This record gives sequence, C-alpha cells and structure tokens, in this order.
Amino acid sequence: VPNLSVRPVRADDFTFFRALAQDERVVHYVGDGTEWTDAYVEQRFADALDHGAPSHRDLRWYIAETPAAVPVGLLALTRHPGETEIGYWIAPDSWGNGYASQLVEHAVAVAIDNGWGPRLEATVHRDNLASRRVVERVGFVVDSSTESATSAELTYRLTLPDSGGQ
Ligand SMILES: CC(C)(COP(=O)(O)OP(=O)(O)OC[C@H]1O[C@@H](n2cnc3c(N)ncnc32)[C@H](O)[C@@H]1OP(=O)(O)O)[C@@H](O)C(=O)NCCC(=O)NCCS
Repeated sequence: VPNLSVRPVRADDFTFFRALAQDERVVHYVGDGTEWTDAYVEQRFADALDHGAPSHRDLRWYIAETPAAVPVGLLALTRHPGETEIGYWIAPDSWGNGYASQLVEHAVAVAIDNGWGPRLEATVHRDNLASRRVVERVGFVVDSSTESATSAELTYRLTLPDSGGQ
C-alpha cells in the first residue's frame, strides 16, 4: 500500500469532491445519508476554499493523493476552541487500503504541529463499523458523557499528547 501525500484542497479538486459527495456509498452515514445536491456541493466547497467564511468556522480541507497524483481522499478539519473536529472520505474504489487510517494519523500530526488541540473529535454513525475501527485504532474513545442509547451518532474523542513547549 503506497503512502499517500496530503495537501491543502484546491479549486481544481471540485470535480473529485462532487463525485464523492454524490456517491451513495460515501454519504450513506454522513448527515441524513442522502447524496448532496449540486448547490450544496458548491456551497460547502466554496466555504472550504474560503477556510470557512462566511460561517466563521475555521475549516482546513486536505486532499490525499497516491504517488501517481490520483486523488483518493478528503480530510476535513474544523477548528473550535480547544477542539478540532475531523471528517474523512475515501473514494469507494480505494477502500480497504488503510488510507483512512493514514488520513486520521495525518490529522493528529497536523493538530499537534499547529497546536489545534488539545482534543480531536469525530462524530461517527453507530453502524459505520469501518469508520469506528479507523478512529479506534488511532486511540479515539467514545465520549460517554455525550453517548445516548437512542442516538445514531457516537462522539469519539482523542486527547493529543502535549506537544511540549507551548
Ligand atoms: C469509513 C472509510 C473512511 C474507511 O476508509 P478505508 O480507507 O477503507 O479505511 P481503512 O482501510 O484505513 O480501515 C478500515 C478498517 O475498518 C475495517 N472494516 C472495513 N469494513 C468493515 C466492516 N464492514 N465492519 C468492520 N470493520 C470493517 C477494516 O478491516 C479496517 O480495519 P483493519 O485495518 O483493522 O483491518 C470509508 O469507508 C469511507 O470513506 N466511507 C464513506 C465516508 C465515511 O463514512 N466517512 C467517515 C465518516 S465518520
């Protein structure tokens, strides 16, 4: 399995992003589980290029590419005070290669390097077993204070190691 390279999202990633957001397999456990409309894809992508304006959240999106520069995944970081929320999508043809695990490890490194901790958060649907496995392997645990027997979503958190000196 090749190592992915991860770079900030660019305007010409739109087609790749739209294909993911309009693929039922990708959005099955995302939001209400339906494919994104063209208008919603455009809005979310524009916000990401704009680092979150006008929502005033701080968004950092990254695209993961193979060594042949084929895009295979999206990593989305949303910064909140004291916490960075992560999201990750891998193109279905590329599932099962450990790519999502690489992306989550990248998110951990980025958050440590930039002081975007001390916590990372991931919201994962209960039935999304592959995604649960990905964050659990990296050390995320379900935040029991937010866990509700009736909710379909689980909140996973990881407290980052102290980067030292900050
Ligand atoms: C979830 C997703 C990101 C996983 O991507 P991936 O690159 O295939 O993940 P990885 O290969 O790094 O790891 C998947 C792990 O889940 C396991 N897995 C895969 N399918 C599984 C299933 N149905 N049940 C249990 N475990 C499963 C794999 O065996 C692997 O664990 P292992 O390394 O211990 O063997 C990908 O399926 C995806 O993009 N889904 C749609 C978007 C999404 O749901 N994103 C997450 C939102 S929280």
